[in-house]
Amino acid sequence: MITLAVETSCDETALALYSEEKGLIGDVLLSQTKIHEEFGGIVPELSAREHTRNLLPLLDLLLKKTDFDLRDIDFVSFTLTPGLILSLVVGVSFAKSLAYSLRKPLVPVHHLEGHIYSVFVEKPVEYPFLALIVSGGHTDLYLVEGFGKYRFLGGTLDDAVGESYDKVARLMGFGYPGGPILDRLAKEGKETYKLPRPMLDDPTLNMSFSGLKTAVRRVVESGEYSKEDLACSFQNAVLDVLEAKVLKAVQLTGVKRLIVVGGVSANSGLRQRFRELSNLEVFIPHIKLSTDNAVMIAYAGLERFKRGIVAPEDINPEPNMPLETFGRLWS
Ligand code: KG4
Ligand code: ZN
Repeated sequence: MITLAVETSCDETALALYSEEKGLIGDVLLSQTKIHEEFGGIVPELSAREHTRNLLPLLDLLLKKTDFDLRDIDFVSFTLTPGLILSLVVGVSFAKSLAYSLRKPLVPVHHLEGHIYSVFVEKPVEYPFLALIVSGGHTDLYLVEGFGKYRFLGGTLDDAVGESYDKVARLMGFGYPGGPILDRLAKEGKETYKLPRPMLDDPTLNMSFSGLKTAVRRVVESGEYSKEDLACSFQNAVLDVLEAKVLKAVQLTGVKRLIVVGGVSANSGLRQRFRELSNLEVFIPHIKLSTDNAVMIAYAGLERFKRGIVAPEDINPEPNMPLETFGRLWS
């Protein structure tokens, strides 16, 4: 069984061909970071225009690269939600047109579900497990009890961690995306700035990162500062909060298997910190699959199709459907 997957929820245009039996056939990805960099963040209209411009050439490239005949796919997987609505519309329309012209079924995937299954591409994880999703738009903890069975445990009440990295980097005069830049700097620095650990002692699994950004702003505005040390201090504060919330989730659920996924799971400090947690089995995707890609959408699409889940031809994207709801609706 082979799927073509389409991912356009944010600023990456990505396609993948994936076989249930043989694994990844090939994938292509075009990142728009250079285009959005000068604006200090993603411009939704530009993102949609770039997806429109790039999807067909990327499909051509993928088919050439893999020497694959598109008629040999069994179905089309695509990201239905959540994301920038204009960008989703482009990807969903593309997926619908392909499915219609090839007379193949359409399989909807939730973007966060894709991130969760990015870990499975290397090796399936046994259920149940905890999922810490840390990306540009989300910072959430879920209990995953089976495919499509997602229970929301808690999440950020304000900024997502990736968003926080991007905003802090901007405060320090760097471009977008800030995560990889601060990651590099943090390795060279020491924790010399005392920054808050918001909601660390809060009994819930909710989090907050906007106060941390304000504390960084104060250091930046105070005059001279070490960029390396500030990046390291910021990163340690973020990781302390994430680690504390994960340990609380383990305590509350008794589940000792954890996956950490989403763009921020590419962070080297995070990878080291979570891998060192004792008494916990921790799974983090390959760095290439941490940030947005279509391989993870293909994998989740295959899991859905195997369960007989297909979408009607007139399906439309949703900017913000919660993962739990999606799991219930599409099961
Ligand atoms: O999952 P993703 O590619 O897109 C969304 O679904 O949001 O995540 C993008 C986010 C950006 O905020 C980016 O700064 C962050 O992931 N990111 C990182 C690193 N690489 C990407 N954050 C910290 N350290 C990194 N190495
Ligand atoms: Zn993502």
